[in-house]
Amino acid sequence: MSTPVLVAVAWPYASGSRHLGHLAGAYLPADIYAQHQRMIGNEVLMVSGSDVHGTPITVRADTEGVTPRDIVERYHAEFLRQWDALGMSWDLFTTTGTPTHAAATQAMFLAQLERGHIDRRSSTQLYDPQADRFLPDRYVEGTCPNCGYGEARGDQCDNCSHTYDATDLIDPRSKLSGATPVERETEHFYFRYSDFNEQIGVFLAGKVGWRNHVLNFAKGWLEDEGLHDRAITRDLDWGVELPVDDLGPGKRIYVWYDAVIGYLSASQEWSEIQGDPDRWRHWWHNDDARHVYFIGKDNIPFHALFWPAQLLGVGDAIGGHALHLPDNIPANQYVTFKGGKASASRGIGLTIEEGLDRFEPDALRYALAANFPEQADTEISVEEIARRINEELVATWGNLVNRVLSMINKNCEGAVPAPGPLETLDAELLAAVDRSLTTAAAQFDAVELRAALRTAMDGAQAVNQYLNATEPWKLQKSDPTRARTVLFVAVSAINGVRIGLHPYLPFSSRVLDDLLGAPVGWKRAELTIGTPIAAPTPLFRKVDLAELP
Ligand code: MF3
Ligand code: ZN
Repeated sequence: MSTPVLVAVAWPYASGSRHLGHLAGAYLPADIYAQHQRMIGNEVLMVSGSDVHGTPITVRADTEGVTPRDIVERYHAEFLRQWDALGMSWDLFTTTGTPTHAAATQAMFLAQLERGHIDRRSSTQLYDPQADRFLPDRYVEGTCPNCGYGEARGDQCDNCSHTYDATDLIDPRSKLSGATPVERETEHFYFRYSDFNEQIGVFLAGKVGWRNHVLNFAKGWLEDEGLHDRAITRDLDWGVELPVDDLGPGKRIYVWYDAVIGYLSASQEWSEIQGDPDRWRHWWHNDDARHVYFIGKDNIPFHALFWPAQLLGVGDAIGGHALHLPDNIPANQYVTFKGGKASASRGIGLTIEEGLDRFEPDALRYALAANFPEQADTEISVEEIARRINEELVATWGNLVNRVLSMINKNCEGAVPAPGPLETLDAELLAAVDRSLTTAAAQFDAVELRAALRTAMDGAQAVNQYLNATEPWKLQKSDPTRARTVLFVAVSAINGVRIGLHPYLPFSSRVLDDLLGAPVGWKRAELTIGTPIAAPTPLFRKVDLAELP
């Protein structure tokens, strides 16, 4: 049975270049998971886009003296180039600046307003008396009221991931002028997240198979402080416009209220592009669908607590059916470089661009996947990436493929040879490769992508051991029939191992697809005897650290 699977991927802020930490944290795991889901025959919809609103964008525009739109266009174009170079298989990578997104955001807002989950409140916000304007979110920094981190932002702490009101910051300072902000009255709409404490508790209580750190964080939050009502509008002129004019001009919807709605609006936009505008309901109005969210751990509160509350707050107002809640949120921990959290805004670690300048795309994907920070913060360095490529990808897989295909090309008239009778050793190798695909499938289901890669590479290692044990290069003269059998078994095993590697290595796998036949399903297919095998070119290049830019 084919399941509709929504692969929902965190929307990168189009406020600057993203780095390898983001790639390993959310985008790449999502792509690898999606590619596996497609191979097992599920109906995958993988969506995301540039998060074009909020103060990360306007702060950058202010600093450079250009418009927010200039910033957004620059980085959205950069992201699209990089996805192409990385072989990302998005169904749609759009932006939160589309009419479809504004309409979806406003529809949700109005539905929640009508149901009484949004109300209007007057509150005090930080105001810069020198710059003469309010200081929403990233316009202010200070000490985190939760953990004491000294460079916490106005809406969230980078250190402990907690969210709070900017007025709760200790020793706040304006990013615009350095001045100490004062408090001023202003009116905003609030989403009554506290209306959903009970329902979110039930939602989380039913979750099995989630990563411990994700479930513990979300449940801990709910037990410690519960959900608080939060302002969902800002004193800004950049963002989705309010669908009601009660507050007067100069107010926009808060970026974190609208960005998560992107998962729904992108699904709708994709449906429009398909010429089947209601198609999104197959994922969103369908209890049998599965929604998996790929995010970094700083995004956990927004996806495990706030977004489900926003979805529940709409009831069945959108299309007469409740909207599907997240089924799994396999958030990753942080990638660190020399001990520090990778950060685009703080210039720590390689950007995606710099990674692509140094490494082949499949090789980069491999090295990052081997180090995905699934359970703990994980250190990644250029040296570690090079080591993974040279000692594993090239030595265990690239050389193996090259060796076996060359021998077949030279010694078997350039075609997959007909084998003699299989010996126990031969059958055992093929059974081991088949078992590795079963093991990997279970690991994919649990979103253990590092382990599933290990499993595939263990399969490759088993083929290497088989060759060392059988030494077909020595059999060529003494026992040509046995030599052909061994090469047949080896290339058949390689044909199975490449299935397991396919989601990780799209480019080199396609080269093998052309040679051996595109995979149908998550299984090793029997090769057709006589399939021509040309002299191979190496799948990957070794990395020479001394030659890197
Ligand atoms: N732009 C946010 C970030 O980079 C992520 C937004 S994810 C979404 O941290 F859920 F809001 F879409
Ligand atoms: Zn903190």
